[in-house]
Amino acid sequence: MGFQTIPGTKDVLPDDLARWQRVERAARRISRLYGYGEIRTPLIEDAALFLRSVGETSDIVQKEMFRFKDRGDHDLALRPEGTASVVRAYLEHNLHKTHGFAKLFYAGPMFRAERPQAGRFRQFHQFGVEAIGSSSPWVDVETLTLCLQILRECGVHDGALWIGSMGSREDQERSAQTLRKRLAPRRMQLCQECQARFDKNVFRVLDCKNPQCHAIAQEALGPSASPFVLSAESQTRFDEVRNGLRSSGIPFDDTQPFARGLDYYTHTVFEVRAKGLGAQDAVAAGGRYDHLVEDLGGPPLGAVGFAAGIERVLLAAAGSPGEAPPPPDRGGVYVAVAQPALAPHGFQLVQHLRGRGVQAIMGYEGKSLKAQLREADQAACRFAAILGEQELAQHSITVKELGPRSDNPMPGGNQRTIPLDTFLEDMRHSAKHACHPTR
Ligand code: HAM
Repeated sequence: MGFQTIPGTKDVLPDDLARWQRVERAARRISRLYGYGEIRTPLIEDAALFLRSVGETSDIVQKEMFRFKDRGDHDLALRPEGTASVVRAYLEHNLHKTHGFAKLFYAGPMFRAERPQAGRFRQFHQFGVEAIGSSSPWVDVETLTLCLQILRECGVHDGALWIGSMGSREDQERSAQTLRKRLAPRRMQLCQECQARFDKNVFRVLDCKNPQCHAIAQEALGPSASPFVLSAESQTRFDEVRNGLRSSGIPFDDTQPFARGLDYYTHTVFEVRAKGLGAQDAVAAGGRYDHLVEDLGGPPLGAVGFAAGIERVLLAAAGSPGEAPPPPDRGGVYVAVAQPALAPHGFQLVQHLRGRGVQAIMGYEGKSLKAQLREADQAACRFAAILGEQELAQHSITVKELGPRSDNPMPGGNQRTIPLDTFLEDMRHSAKHACHPTR
């Protein structure tokens, strides 16, 4: 057996890529409508960036980060998410001084050493946005609106929005003390990991899968479903976000407050969950992080953002009614030569076409004309341009239209010989779409 992709990673072949590009294009286009500019950050970062932001006790840092030393003994990590890198870049390039409020969009691969399963990969792809430099609840509303609009445009029609508030940092500290007090009598009955979490980040005890920890945590929580007790100010802020969503006609569910597994969140947190994705049903998630800029060495600036997993968006869109199948249109030109000796002329013609913005391919294997036409058909080309001795002598070309099409631009049959100049001009208008060389 030859080499294969490692579990949790996958190849995206040209035929699948059309769907990926549709999602990326929609995300880029709509983000631009909302005033976002694209940013690209490196795939490797200082590991400490994620310890400081995502949090030392988070699952991402504890178990999932691809972390390694380079030859200079620097502690590096493949980025597990985009927010920390974007804030690092915002500060490194002084955008807080030049722009103040910055709206940044990104798309690209992220890496987490998770146990692969349906919808969960070790290399996955996110698009996301970060609005850095504002604490207005309206920026939360706008971010949520943008997220939902992109998902809809990508064909996710059954996404349900879940929102909650984790309160301010002061609320979180107060809530942590309360939770610790309630858990303290049974602390020694918690699993080893939760005993460490008790001191470092007590909220993580609530996420533990161990049945005994789960029972103890539920008992400590009591009837209130949320561990976060909000101050009046935080409550007002949360109300403002919810009212903003209502006035924009965006339905949401706020009945099950939830904590997110990354440490930087404050106030609004949210997830968009899609039906039919099983356990990994979050297609997009995000929230506000009002202390991260300061924690990474910048001024105290509020920020909010979200990221969506492209693989999950595609899975959710595939399960949604009404997702349009990829267009079956033929496109482009296949240049076929009557004899192998004419290949240099064929190559020149292909280059002429490409120079005019027409997608053109040819075969280089010296196959028969029939085999070349079969190849043109398999590649879903719209036209085959056949070049023989006679055509060469007359500066002409024989053009054959492949497959049925309603808007036939070649009246009087689907094959004819025309002057080369006319052909080059015609193709500019007729062969717009691309052909698919791998089909
Ligand atoms: P997250 O919830 O860790 O948040 O990930 C966001 C989305 O990325 C998830 O909802 C899911 O669609 C996708 N995702 C995460 N892990 C995987 C995986 N292993 N396989 C496939 N898809 C995955 C963040 O990453 C935050 N940075 C979001 C954010 C931006 N918060 C504020 N700004």
